[in-house]
Amino acid sequence: MSLLAVSNLTRRYNRGGETVAAVHDVSFAIDPGETLALAGPSGSGKSTIARLVLRLIEPDAGRIEFEGNDFLALAGSALRAHRARLQMVFQDPLAAFNPRATVARVLDDPLRIHGIASRTERPHRIAELLERVGLPVDLASRAIHEISGGQRQRIAIARAIATKPSLIVLDEAVSALDVSVRGQILELLLDLQRKQRIAYLFISHDLGVIRAVAHRIVLLDAGRIAESGNARAVIDSPQSAIGKALVAAAPRLDRTMQDAS
Ligand SMILES: Nc1ncnc2c1ncn2[C@@H]1O[C@H](COP(=O)(O)OP(=O)(O)O)[C@@H](O)[C@H]1O
Ligand SMILES: [Mg+2]
Repeated sequence: MSLLAVSNLTRRYNRGGETVAAVHDVSFAIDPGETLALAGPSGSGKSTIARLVLRLIEPDAGRIEFEGNDFLALAGSALRAHRARLQMVFQDPLAAFNPRATVARVLDDPLRIHGIASRTERPHRIAELLERVGLPVDLASRAIHEISGGQRQRIAIARAIATKPSLIVLDEAVSALDVSVRGQILELLLDLQRKQRIAYLFISHDLGVIRAVAHRIVLLDAGRIAESGNARAVIDSPQSAIGKALVAAAPRLDRTMQDAS
């Protein structure tokens, strides 16, 4: 059984009196422990799909099954329980966190809200999470605005894994990072996937990064699926017009991420 199965998903927006389908009849599935990349030009619907899957917005049509449940029908405590299993990391963790909050506070929230650890256990769990994402434990007392962008993205990942998710949606999560930091964060994601069998919906416009970390790829063009398949096969030999254009525009595909593959 798939971990996540999205069927015939459509989401429309009103733009200047006109209705535009940002996502049109999109279907895909993700297996446990798998990385599915979502790629496509800017405006092709990647973030809209991310928000739909996370139920931050509702679709106009379609179905989302997560861990065998009709995800769009869940409400109340059942929805909260499943939300814990479906986490997210976005491009800019500064926008996701209160910049004046301490690292400890940011990591304490999910443990407390989802009832994962008691008040006395939580400092220990926070230290464990910091270790797991390769950060020193004494970072806990620092404020979010005081730490580096790479450290902040590690905190975002620590927060995401705090609730033991089966799926993490990553929307351009490494796009704002320097190349060397990006490589380290991708290594961390691969390591967590190996150890905890987490699946990723990995959204990126960077085909080099996708080629290095994703098992399969879905290529979007104006809200529709243009092409999908094995990530390396599609990137090495795209069949769709948009796939060919994206590959032609990608710099040095084979060397972008050699240390994370
Ligand atoms: N809240 C919104 N209101 C109106 N149009 C939107 C909204 N969000 C996204 N869109 C439109 O939907 C399309 C897909 O956007 P998005 O999902 O952000 O694409 P991507 O993440 O691939 O760049 C774009 O044309 C965008 O302008
Ligand atoms: Mg986007």
